[in-house]
Amino acid sequence: MTYETLLYEQREGIAYVSIHRPEKLNALNNAVMTELKTCFEAIQSNDEVRAVILQGAGERAFVAGADIGELSRLDSLRGKEASCRGQELADLIENLGKPVVAAIHGYALGGGCELAMACTLRVASEDARFGQPEVKIGIIPGYGGTQRLSRLVGKGRALEMILTGEPITAQEAYRIGLVNCVVPKKDLIATAEALARKIMANAPLAVKLSLEAVHHGLEMSQREGEFLEADLFGLCCTTEDMKEGTRAFLEKRPAKFAGK
Ligand code: COA
Repeated sequence: MTYETLLYEQREGIAYVSIHRPEKLNALNNAVMTELKTCFEAIQSNDEVRAVILQGAGERAFVAGADIGELSRLDSLRGKEASCRGQELADLIENLGKPVVAAIHGYALGGGCELAMACTLRVASEDARFGQPEVKIGIIPGYGGTQRLSRLVGKGRALEMILTGEPITAQEAYRIGLVNCVVPKKDLIATAEALARKIMANAPLAVKLSLEAVHHGLEMSQREGEFLEADLFGLCCTTEDMKEGTRAFLEKRPAKFAGK
């Protein structure tokens, strides 16, 4: 696949998606948003891809936010449409059915932080900076940030970031649970790959259904979430992978999962 604003590579079951607008710190303009949607839809239906690594091209940024030039021209209706489009992309990534690991260096601001939060896991390099600076330009986070940030780090920390607009360091992001780990920049992609491969070694349907249980469960009461969990647990018990996984354990050998 070739794109104007993304770099795409596929190797050994991993899709590497890189947002490529380094001269604008990978700001999310219309072209990037359209291509990201096309790209993630293609990944979703591509059985050869078992995990995704999302990164930003260039030395300085994962993504420095939505494109402020384009934002400045929005009216009420177009503003709502732009927000809905960003939310749909984030939902697509979150509900892809396969793990998406964000490998974050440099700035992850506004829509960049929101894009990272839609990913399954986040690996940050030591130079990463996270923030929701929208209030500084008269708007609020619009790609799901007001919802995902508070779910990830709690209401108090989320409100501090959203209301002050001030960025936080990678270490602080780790401390509050916004990222899963912080590593030296040279190890960023290797760490993301190692995480992806650990997940890929597990039963694909169990991974997919775990994602579903956690994401949908969070929208429900605990009792409803547990009901969903029991249904999905039952579904796992019908899979070949469950038979293989349990048999392999009992036979003291590694499992060979078929994703069925
Ligand atoms: N939208 C559009 N362009 C952006 C951008 C954004 N969100 N973020 C950076 N850019 C562009 C700059 O306009 C500049 O383009 P130019 O060289 O054509 O003037 C280029 O990227 C480099 O950015 P610059 O501001 O010169 O780098 P810096 O090192 O001085 O500052 C930041 C880096 C990230 C602190 C600063 O670019 C910034 O604050 N960006 C906006 C962050 C933001 O508010 N994001 C949320 C938007 S809702």
